[in-house]
Amino acid sequence: TVIIVNFGGQYAHLIARRVRELRVYSEIVNYTEFSMDVVESVKPKAVILSGGPSSLVSSPNPPMIGNWILDVGIPVLGICYGHQLLAYLIGGRIERGVGEYGKTNIEIVNSDELFSGWGKREYVWMSHSDYVADIPREKAVVLAKSVETGYIAAFKLVDKPVYGVQFHPEVSHTPKGRKLIENFVVGIAKAKQTWSPGNIVEKIVSDIRSMVGEDEKVLCAVSGGIDSTVTAMLLRKAIGDRLVAVFVNHGLLREGEDVEVLNTLKKLGINPIYIDASQTFLNALKGVKDCEEKRKIIGELFAKIFKDIAESDKNIKWLAQGTTYPDVIESGAVVGADKIKSHHNVAGLPKWLNLRVLEPIKYLYKDEVRALAIELGVPREWALRHPFPGPGLAVRIIGEVTEEKLGIVRKASKIVEEELRKEGLYQDIWQAFAVVGDDKWVGVKGDKRQLGYIVTIRIVVSEDGMTADWFKASLELLERISNRITREIPDVTMVTYAISSKPPSTIEPC
Ligand code: XMP
Repeated sequence: TVIIVNFGGQYAHLIARRVRELRVYSEIVNYTEFSMDVVESVKPKAVILSGGPSSLVSSPNPPMIGNWILDVGIPVLGICYGHQLLAYLIGGRIERGVGEYGKTNIEIVNSDELFSGWGKREYVWMSHSDYVADIPREKAVVLAKSVETGYIAAFKLVDKPVYGVQFHPEVSHTPKGRKLIENFVVGIAKAKQTWSPGNIVEKIVSDIRSMVGEDEKVLCAVSGGIDSTVTAMLLRKAIGDRLVAVFVNHGLLREGEDVEVLNTLKKLGINPIYIDASQTFLNALKGVKDCEEKRKIIGELFAKIFKDIAESDKNIKWLAQGTTYPDVIESGAVVGADKIKSHHNVAGLPKWLNLRVLEPIKYLYKDEVRALAIELGVPREWALRHPFPGPGLAVRIIGEVTEEKLGIVRKASKIVEEELRKEGLYQDIWQAFAVVGDDKWVGVKGDKRQLGYIVTIRIVVSEDGMTADWFKASLELLERISNRITREIPDVTMVTYAISSKPPSTIEPC
């Protein structure tokens, strides 16, 4: 294990992913929970301190770690804020500088294994305004400097594998960044490259067995999505038929999805209780325009259904959820990460739902869940399906959810998906779908002027949904999609393409 200490930036995740890509397990620990005890119990091969928004110069109570970190006897790498913190701990001077943002040229002034495979001068990606103005030279060696400002870009403690780098090796804009992380994790820390998501199946299964009492049952809502499918499969492995799987049709599914999901789950040995609650959900959503309100209503209705099932069987004591690692962060469950959207599968389980929560895959990233699914026997095609949000089409409809708008989104999304598959592009895309709101556009169909809906197409590429780029689709593809939608869906008179990335936008419109 490599521990990544999170100082509140979004970068901790990227660092954790890079380490796992080297087939070394990594775990993120909040700086508030990081201590010598954690190091002694986890026994990591190395510790990486992430960047973060705080300032040792101007924040009133900047995040701290005790001096013990310098003497733990395992390699430590501080990145950005982590770099400044390590410098501060050895008595270095941190000042507010001119700031370096984006592509920056650095020069290696003392060679070290950390920079193995790097040239004398390389471009790196920086994002900071505080900088290490000076470090005690009897304690540390400067390894690299920024060419333009002369700032210390990297240092190493004398006689200890404790390093600081001001730049971000974890981002792809630092071309040799992956190499640096490999040099640190594999070369310097000697971590063995043996980890794969499959390795932790046994641990997950034994954790479930030790948590769930022998006569207790676990309720698991399955949606057909890869996260809940893998969660249910792991539970079945762990507790057999004490798993109570339930598939709720909330009326906000895509075309033909209910039948398809039931068939696939059955083939995988999961026979969920099927509850068709579409009318209940659609009635509850009548007149509701606000997105967060929709999410809240849907979340509460799910919880009510779970409660009814749990009340019918007193042995049900647990609710299992397919929460994954980024969900945990995006929901603001971690200090320092601001709340963006309330993903109902993490936040907001009402208190009256008297069930304890089990989240077997909360340490895995999506691509790891997919790899695990394939190892567990899920057909590749199913494992590689695009993610679909829990509240379903309710978050792809702007304004009130109506049968008419649902019909439009269903048909249009199907067209988008079919056209992507025809081009062999489906698997390169993170998500692709249609959105409809209340705005209208006048069209001429036949020789009549007709007011119709505007459908927006959203196609994005992403690694984990936390950031995303709009997909640079060919004009021919967009034209085919537009032609089919306006031809096959009579109520649509205009198709637009969403060309904003996340950030500043989000993936779903609402
Ligand atoms: P946004 O729109 O926040 O989406 O950029 C990031 C990823 O999260 C999914 N998403 C949700 N998933 N419940 C879910 O289970 C939700 O309420 C929800 N909102 C967004 C979205 O599909 C994307 O992959």
